[in-house]
Amino acid sequence: MKHLLSTRDLSHDEAVALLDIAEDMSDVNDRPIKKLPVLRGRTVVNLFFEDSTRTRTSFETAAKRLSADVVNFSARGSSVSKGESLKDTAQTLAAIGADAVVIRHRASGAPMVLAHNGWIDAGVVNAGDGCHEHPTQALLDAFTIRKRRFGADSRGKDLHGIRVLIVGDILHSRVARSDVWLLSELGATVAFAGPPTLMPYDIETWPCTVYDNFDAALADDFDVVMLLRIQLERMEAAFFPTQREYANLWGLGPERFRALSPHTLIMHPGPMNRGLEICSEAADSPQATVLEQVHNGVSIRMAVLYSLLSDQEAER
Ligand code: CP
Repeated sequence: MKHLLSTRDLSHDEAVALLDIAEDMSDVNDRPIKKLPVLRGRTVVNLFFEDSTRTRTSFETAAKRLSADVVNFSARGSSVSKGESLKDTAQTLAAIGADAVVIRHRASGAPMVLAHNGWIDAGVVNAGDGCHEHPTQALLDAFTIRKRRFGADSRGKDLHGIRVLIVGDILHSRVARSDVWLLSELGATVAFAGPPTLMPYDIETWPCTVYDNFDAALADDFDVVMLLRIQLERMEAAFFPTQREYANLWGLGPERFRALSPHTLIMHPGPMNRGLEICSEAADSPQATVLEQVHNGVSIRMAVLYSLLSDQEAER
């Protein structure tokens, strides 16, 4: 694997293999000394043009646990504020010696531009581009579901037969886009629920079913219910009348939460809007995997960086 740009690029077997490497990394993360020497002398640059808590810190932690050198770049406080372009910024960091560039950018497609137009030689990992994709989030979601389902016997398994309902602002969600391709490639059945104004125009071409009523979807008893954040920062129009109405129609409030099967997993990629798409009772319940997802994100990002940089080494 030279780059990780989209979950659409991963075959079933490649995805299972990455999840299995993440299992090995997870074993390392459970040890008192959480460190491997495998990327000693390699440099990972975290190039963040958009805010992040989970993704940036977990990529940094992952790279450090593999003994790589890490450079953290954020657009705020850099020469981007003086007008420096993505090309010049990336080439500057490549000149410093980046072997891998982890990029988050508000523009959909920015990681693909970086990977494919020959500006830099480094491997590129998409850490979230606009409303397009967030592949490591989908991998950690798949890893979390698999681990909850199979526990210590997860290795080699896929998600065949698991039913996942993703609820909310699908239109602006890169997580929804990466999840639908990865989870269905792994054999899961994916459904979306949300207001019609927050559904992508081309959703009929995605491998999923769509509900326009949350309670009707919940009556179909899914194994996983994933709530998505309303992305107010990406909305240029009023997509729903009020936040109160949204919470009533599309939020996992206390009543809907208490009616769920105790076996249904409640997932959220974070950051959460408590009281809007999810109530605290649900978010803090044993069924919720919100912090487990963050924890597993380190193992997934270790697996991705290791795969990328060890394949790069093999090609030299
Ligand atoms: N899930 C996620 O991408 O969170 P951050 O925006 O905090 O990285």
